[in-house]
Amino acid sequence: MQIEVISSVNEARADRFTHRTAIVIDVLRASSTMVAALEAGAPGIFPVETVLEARALQRPGHLLAGERFCRKIPGFDLGNSPDDFTPDNLRNRHVVLTTTNGTRAVHKAMRADNILAGALTNASACARAAAELRRDIVLLCAGNHDDFALEDGLCAGLLIEHLQNYCSSAVETDDFGTAMLGLYKNSSNRVADTIAGASTGKRLTKMGFGRDVQRCSQVDISSVVPRLQGDMIVNV
Ligand code: MLT
Repeated sequence: MQIEVISSVNEARADRFTHRTAIVIDVLRASSTMVAALEAGAPGIFPVETVLEARALQRPGHLLAGERFCRKIPGFDLGNSPDDFTPDNLRNRHVVLTTTNGTRAVHKAMRADNILAGALTNASACARAAAELRRDIVLLCAGNHDDFALEDGLCAGLLIEHLQNYCSSAVETDDFGTAMLGLYKNSSNRVADTIAGASTGKRLTKMGFGRDVQRCSQVDISSVVPRLQGDMIVNV
């Protein structure tokens, strides 16, 4: 099995996803939020690129969620903090989600045979689900401000480590994947501190979202695997 790692959503060309399984990674915070929303009982999440699309797609009972400049969008029900997605807030309602990079990354990967959302919180379950799909894999790091984000690279490294354990055939990765695996191995005993000290972690903490940074840095705490089916993300 071949694993390719794309460093940011800007680097993602549609043809790189054909016949593959894509794992979209946005540790801070969109993919971690998708895991949290499904874990809290949302039946499905509609990932959309723009605020206008989100408003147009909303149906009675749907919750509008997402961020611009990391903050809740005016008039929306929820922001992009995993902690916003509690069973009480959701009450079994569908979510329409738009975020700056994460939901854009899902749309960039549309040509893939399968699209999963990977985070540190669900890395093991996500890698297992991807291995079972028996396709070559593209790990799409969403990044931040169109640049690579360290926390997404760490998650890519962890996913590669898990995939090496779960795949029945030999796993080969590209040079960037090898680098991310090394990054993860070097930091595996201080993942939370590494993320808190990287640029997105510092920015979110400064904005008052330090609790999100901590929560999103927890490894393998969920068995939820968000997967796109049609235009909706569900738990596989
Ligand atoms: C994104 O999709 O750009 C991020 O999840 C932004 C954020 O952390 O709010």
